[in-house]
Amino acid sequence: MPNVRVKPLERLARHELMLGLFLPLQEGAWSPSTAPRGTSWTFDYNARCALRAEELGFDLVFGLAQWLGKGGYGGAMHFREHEIDPFITTAALAPLTKNIILISTVHILYGWHPLHLAKYGACIDHVSNGRWGLNVVTGYKPSEYRMFGMSPIAHDLRYEMAEEFTTLMKLLWAADENLTFEGKFWKTEDAYVAVKPVDGRPILVNAASSEAGLDYAVKHSDLIFITSPAGADPREACEALPAHNRKIKEMASAQRREIKTIINPHVICRPTEKEAWDAYRMILEHEDAEASRNFVEMFRTGDAASWRGHKGKQWVIGGNIHLVGSPEQIVDWFARLKRAGCDGVQVNFFDYVPDLEFFGSEVLPLMRQAGLRAD
Ligand SMILES: Cc1cc2nc3c(=O)[nH]c(=O)nc-3n(C[C@H](O)[C@H](O)[C@H](O)COP(=O)(O)O)c2cc1C
Repeated sequence: MPNVRVKPLERLARHELMLGLFLPLQEGAWSPSTAPRGTSWTFDYNARCALRAEELGFDLVFGLAQWLGKGGYGGAMHFREHEIDPFITTAALAPLTKNIILISTVHILYGWHPLHLAKYGACIDHVSNGRWGLNVVTGYKPSEYRMFGMSPIAHDLRYEMAEEFTTLMKLLWAADENLTFEGKFWKTEDAYVAVKPVDGRPILVNAASSEAGLDYAVKHSDLIFITSPAGADPREACEALPAHNRKIKEMASAQRREIKTIINPHVICRPTEKEAWDAYRMILEHEDAEASRNFVEMFRTGDAASWRGHKGKQWVIGGNIHLVGSPEQIVDWFARLKRAGCDGVQVNFFDYVPDLEFFGSEVLPLMRQAGLRAD
């Protein structure tokens, strides 16, 4: 029998709930806490997590991109100072993996021309046999723009630029002749990308919350990373998420498109609920107060519409919603998120290697039993 290739996005559709791993590319990952753990930002550690996630049947791995000064968010732990870049990391993971989708975040407005990303992206897509995804972000931190010698760009204008940037990338991927394009922000003359993406174009992802951002996302993206409008408490999140998911799906169908929504739970799972809450408290008790203050401040001073519902100490745990409990309870929350309209979860952990292992042996089988995962 010939080996028939199934497109990565079609493979995702087999599952009731998509499953992704949020890689710890940044020092300290999501949590400004000095509680003991082995989590590391190094490539070897991240590759180990990605390979294990693939073996366990996860659909995707994803990493965030940031530009921080020396010391990162500060504190004793120099929160997020060291990191490996997601674009380079996914390229390096491509030949090491076989099935898992590799999504990298790129700040498209920090000096890139669409031709750069069209060509480099097509190359990673080729190496990974069509498993590469581009999370298009426009940058909500003024300090990042200044690092590139630029002035911050107004929120909605960023998405207008992203629209043109993406349109030009798509034209370059599709063109079978040299392309000339004169846009408002970018132009090109007789440009050509010779390595074509395996499935016409790579997987496109976005993580917007605002009207302008969602307008962009529903026109161009296959997947959207969403955040809870009501903060990290899963009960409150599950009340707010149906309307948010519905709105995104309706906006997409007005464009005659479909888009899948994925939320990012921080999973703290132990054999019993008590042990899980003990682990939760341990993270909080070791809060690096300075790092945590600076981290929150960054979100307060930026203009991102996401994470607005987060309160106080929720920032110390990090991630979006917090799922704490036994394996049965975690799976029950996943089912509730599904009922709230989420198509997938991409989980993050505090201590990645052991937490991922526990997730694989205790949570995944229950997800299959609950019908959330096909195999
Ligand atoms: C799961 C997730 C991952 C994100 N990753 C990044 C990132 O790596 N770098 C970045 O600058 N912004 C990142 N963002 C921020 C978004 O690009 C966006 O700016 C934010 O969600 C605010 O939405 P808005 O632009 O519509 O206001 C991420 C958002 C989410 C929800």
